[in-house]
Amino acid sequence: MQLTTDPRSAAVRLRDGGLVAVPTETVYGLAARADDPHAVARIYAAKGRPADHPLIVHVANALALHSWASSIPEYAHRLAAAFWPGPMTLVVARSDRAGDFITGGQDSVAVRVSSHPLMDDTLRALISLTSDPAIGIAAPSANRFGRVSPTSARHVLEEFVGVIGDDDLILDGGESAVGVESTIIDCTDEIPRLLRAGAITVSDIERVTGLTPGLTSPVRASGTLESHYAPTAEVVITDAAGLRDTHPTDEARIGVLALESIPTPVGMVRLSAPESNDDYAHVLYAALREADALQLTTVLAVLPDDSGLGAAVIDRLRRAAHS
Ligand code: TXA
Ligand code: MG
Repeated sequence: MQLTTDPRSAAVRLRDGGLVAVPTETVYGLAARADDPHAVARIYAAKGRPADHPLIVHVANALALHSWASSIPEYAHRLAAAFWPGPMTLVVARSDRAGDFITGGQDSVAVRVSSHPLMDDTLRALISLTSDPAIGIAAPSANRFGRVSPTSARHVLEEFVGVIGDDDLILDGGESAVGVESTIIDCTDEIPRLLRAGAITVSDIERVTGLTPGLTSPVRASGTLESHYAPTAEVVITDAAGLRDTHPTDEARIGVLALESIPTPVGMVRLSAPESNDDYAHVLYAALREADALQLTTVLAVLPDDSGLGAAVIDRLRRAAHS
């Protein structure tokens, strides 16, 4: 894989059926053009991801949603108008454009418009190369299956060195601003359902749609597998008192992840001390990777409250702790 900062060369590689790791405001994605089954198959192979797990299609703007969806409820239009481009994915009834190789054979498709300027530039360049204004690029998070999502180009390199072809690219767009994956909202029913927590919160959805979102859905989402987002170190959820009362043994090498206000006990490694819930999301995955780089055995994580991005941080840490 080669690093680049040029969205046009990324678009050319995508047009030609190659893979490009792309920056988004949430996490990095591993992209291929969404109308090319061979290119999409390479994503699954590189990630080691089961073939029935559906992918998110990234498009240039909300207009393109009409081309990928067969029906779009009014509340989904409101969500798209309010939060795109941004950290939100809408699952809608699919049109013929969304092949089984994208949707895992389901009759819905996940669509997102990212706000990262290099994603936008790449999609614009791809549109002009293909003359297809609704062209999409399929991109799951750019990590091996079940692992921690990457929030920098260096993380992507760590995941795929030796796995992905020399001609494939990493488009370096700096650190991901949000740090956790997009909010996924199922829009295939009368009311929206939250499938994955992210920067767009339940109260954001209520405010914009006037509807109370359902919190579970029968639709499958791999990010909703119990064990996911896990480093090699064991993640254990605790609270400030539990942290104080833990005394490291000789064998244990313990890292601490907690808001700044919570002190680090003697003999433990501070992985990060975020100042706010937003900051916690921003540093979360880099901190989990750091735990493995330091060969820690355990990460003691103190959950933030569930305001703002706190809910997404709690969700990811619980899943990391479950494996
Ligand atoms: O922030 C993000 O969403 C990142 C960036 C790269 O856009 N992408 C991402 O993709 O997190 P991935 O593949 O790691 O997670 C996508 C989730 C999976 O849990 C998948 O099962 C779910 O979206 N998904 C995709 N299509 C779906 C569908 N038709 N119905 C329900 N869930 C779907
Ligand atoms: Mg993922």
